[in-house]
Amino acid sequence: MSQYWSDIVHKLTPYVPGEQPKLANLVKLNTNENPYGPSPKVIEALKLEAADTLRLYPDPNSDALKAAIAHNYHLNANQVFVGNGSDEVLAHVFHALLKHSQPLLFPDITYSFYPVYCGLYDIQYQTISLNEDFSINVDDYDQPNGGIIFPNPNAPTGIPLALVEIEKLLQKNTQSVVVIDEAYVDFGTESAVNLINRYPNLLVTHTLSKARSLAGLRVGYALGAPDLIEALMRVKDSFNSYPIDRFASAGAIAAMQDVKYFEKTCRQVIATRESLIKDLTDLGFDVLPSGANFIFAKHQTKGGAELTAQLRENSIIVRHFKTPSRIAPYLRITVGTDAQSEILISTLKKVL
Ligand SMILES: Cc1ncc(COP(=O)(O)O)c(C=O)c1O
Repeated sequence: MSQYWSDIVHKLTPYVPGEQPKLANLVKLNTNENPYGPSPKVIEALKLEAADTLRLYPDPNSDALKAAIAHNYHLNANQVFVGNGSDEVLAHVFHALLKHSQPLLFPDITYSFYPVYCGLYDIQYQTISLNEDFSINVDDYDQPNGGIIFPNPNAPTGIPLALVEIEKLLQKNTQSVVVIDEAYVDFGTESAVNLINRYPNLLVTHTLSKARSLAGLRVGYALGAPDLIEALMRVKDSFNSYPIDRFASAGAIAAMQDVKYFEKTCRQVIATRESLIKDLTDLGFDVLPSGANFIFAKHQTKGGAELTAQLRENSIIVRHFKTPSRIAPYLRITVGTDAQSEILISTLKKVL
């Protein structure tokens, strides 16, 4: 607290990201990074970018990157917005499209950055309880609102919502923007991208941090009607003209173009996830259905906090959320390599 702070800063409760420990040799399964490195073509592109041209500003509109992304989804470049990680894209989305007189709606258990953006931009919001089984019931969102946002698959549950449900929501909710945060969609969840040309109020956000193994490069994007994209550009150009630096642009373009590598690593992660779910179930865990690169699991007898601490003593880091109490028994475990799964399972056998 300080007399020099603005009123809004006094009231902020910032997001706390998952720990990035400095210790080596940890089995790090806490922040949903990809266990496989980026495509070798990304590394090559980054090396080429380390050149004299770094003295020049990057393209403020990121035209080449937008074109590469648009090409992937058969969209036009004016339907693409890019930012410094999808967190920055989401911040602009909250500011540009979700601040209205009616409350923004999102699930009570979801990505915990959403209420933080509401605090930053002074947006009123109302949380909607998930069903008993942690799934989203789109009928619950059928009420006056200034916007709707949720991840699909949801985080931290990992549960995917079928596309027909999203379409049902869009058919009913035409007066405000519906944002589907598809940070984890490439690990086996149906994407809503193909609905963009039919629903002018649908915005889909993606990140290169997960399925494209580039959490360290910080690139995310939003896809939607040109009108929504223009609102985001207006906010971006009132904030930072150059959110995508030359390295981020070159690396992200190469990552979007190497579709084969992306598909191969996604398949590997999904295969590891399925065997991990089986092994955890055999050890007495209840595991929620996952369409993500992480799973949400609770042990039938041992509590979430205790298990997290025991894993940590054995150099394995997973994520545990103390609140709300409904999810306190659960561990959120990132899907790593098969070798990391083996270490996790053998450690659990020891501590359980
Ligand atoms: C649901 C969800 N959305 C968005 C993000 C942000 O990803 P990034 O800023 O790395 O693109 C995350 C990161 O963990 C997430 O879990």
